[in-house]
Amino acid sequence: MALASSKISPFSSLSPIVGDVPKKFISSMNFVLSSSLTLSEGSGRGNLMRVCASNVSTPLTGVIFEPFEEVKKDVLAVPFTPNVSLARQNYTDESEALINEQINVEYNISYVYHSLFAYFDRDNIALKGHAKFFKESSEEEREHAEKFMKYQNTRGGRVILHPITSPASEFEHVEKGDALYAMELALSMEKLVNEKLLNLHSVAERNNDPQMADYIANEFLQDQVEAIKKIAEYVTQLRMVGKGHGVWHFDQRLLHDH
Ligand SMILES: [Fe+2]
Repeated sequence: MALASSKISPFSSLSPIVGDVPKKFISSMNFVLSSSLTLSEGSGRGNLMRVCASNVSTPLTGVIFEPFEEVKKDVLAVPFTPNVSLARQNYTDESEALINEQINVEYNISYVYHSLFAYFDRDNIALKGHAKFFKESSEEEREHAEKFMKYQNTRGGRVILHPITSPASEFEHVEKGDALYAMELALSMEKLVNEKLLNLHSVAERNNDPQMADYIANEFLQDQVEAIKKIAEYVTQLRMVGKGHGVWHFDQRLLHDH
């Protein structure tokens, strides 16, 4: 199965095996490909593998892309070093650190929502609709954290979990009452998350990483503005109904409508 370098595209035939290939296999490949192509261990940055063309005697005319020349670049070499991502490309340390920070933000918000769930679920508070709403919100933020973890791994970064702070456990407010106070707190937190996401997006753009910018925009920014609108409406409605009986009706709606 010798490859004819001018007829068959050697690049497309070989590219799937460039990567974590056992050395034994590479030496047998060297034998098979000796007349056209060679897989070799490079001598540049650490342990890297390069794909090289050799013994190509007939120059091609009209060729504008020479994959086996261009693939020799250090930046495209595949690392052998343990604990180093093979997939990482065009992903800056700054972006990696910010994604880890965002994971921490999502966990912190999730923790606050979980505390709000525990508060409204108490027997002497008993606003079950609020408890349900904040429980679901807490789970959603944790899902966001996990989504950012998967993204970090997709880009070849490493997930580092930072400490999360202990949230408040009492949410009573003399003038506003607990329901309105909690919902205003939720609105402020969602706006804070949006601010962090917008920062992530601008850092991605500044680092010339369109994939990351698009990912933040498509997977998070749209949902975030919708969440802000929904909670803003809840705040408005809670301001209308005042404390006491009105809050009971609002709570029943949260319990049964969503
Ligand atoms: Fe979130």
